[in-house]
Amino acid sequence: MNRLPSSAASASPPRAAAQTRFPLAIVGAGALGLHFAARLARGGPVAVVARTAQRAAQLRAGIYVGDMLYRAEAHGPDALPEAEWVIVLVKAADTADAARLAAAMRPRGVLSLQNGLTEDVLRAHCGGAGGVALVAQGITTEGAFRDGDRVTPSGAGETLVPPGFEAVAGLLSRAGFRARVEPGIAAARLAKLLVNLAINPLAALFRVPNGALLDPPFRACLDALVDEAWPLLRAEGLALDEAAAHARVAEVARATGTNRASMLQDVLAGRRTEIDAITGMLLAMAARRGVAVPVHQAVFTLVKLLERG
Ligand SMILES: NC(=O)c1ccc[n+]([C@@H]2O[C@H](COP(=O)([O-])OP(=O)(O)OC[C@H]3O[C@@H](n4cnc5c(N)ncnc54)[C@H](OP(=O)(O)O)[C@@H]3O)[C@@H](O)[C@H]2O)c1
Repeated sequence: MNRLPSSAASASPPRAAAQTRFPLAIVGAGALGLHFAARLARGGPVAVVARTAQRAAQLRAGIYVGDMLYRAEAHGPDALPEAEWVIVLVKAADTADAARLAAAMRPRGVLSLQNGLTEDVLRAHCGGAGGVALVAQGITTEGAFRDGDRVTPSGAGETLVPPGFEAVAGLLSRAGFRARVEPGIAAARLAKLLVNLAINPLAALFRVPNGALLDPPFRACLDALVDEAWPLLRAEGLALDEAAAHARVAEVARATGTNRASMLQDVLAGRRTEIDAITGMLLAMAARRGVAVPVHQAVFTLVKLLERG
């Protein structure tokens, strides 16, 4: 696939120094961003946006993604290219910064594939009057982790994108990812949130792999989190009945039984977790509806304490 000619240069946002217009850019050169970028780059140009110019230079020199040395077409925030479409793959707490970079690339659309609910923050920082027309959040169950300066893909999954992002689904499919447009993306996002709400904080608090949550003494906590979250998520548009909600969480815990949840990895590495975009979002829904969710509130407080410690 060839790069498209740059569009008119007038009124470029600050720091967008477009020489070429990429079909696709990925903001967030971490585990999942580089996993996607490396495979997409086999079929056409993909711009990768790193947090700093120095990191971009390292990525241009090459990084191992699986067994492949990937020399990314990487850019720092001071030398952004233009791009037709942008995928955001930073951690939830970095969404606002990433959204501003995404918007500066003058794309047709910005798609988040992050965990948690980040669409409102993304929209607030790259939408608005004169901003990007199409801003939305999809979901992915692709997996990858960082091990030193190497990225290791950890499981093929499925990527669901909202209507309007057909072109992105096409690029992903042509690169060999299982990807499709999901008309019911809001319900799909809530189902993913349910799984993350139940598994992630408990794995981090008890420091156990996902599969251990299915057995005593952890199982009672897992079930309590689902019991509390389900009525709220159902009222917001979750399409699973209560039994199916429990079954979905158990199925994911079983299928990823030996994995360390990302929140556990963050806690062990002393990094900020995505608890605000996951449990924090449920607490906000509960507050809006005047519903008490004491188990989630306790879990939220404990994970925040772990972050500070
Ligand atoms: N990994 C998975 O298997 C997986 C699966 C499904 C969903 N997700 C979701 O995907 C998202 C990304 O996860 P991840 O595991 O790839 O995280 P990650 O490895 O921590 O990668 C995030 C990357 O974003 C970069 N970044 C932060 N702020 C930035 C900014 N303003 N501009 C440019 N880059 C910036 C970080 O740079 P630094 O390195 O400089 O901090 C880091 O390289 C999360 O929401 C996660 O929950 C991950």
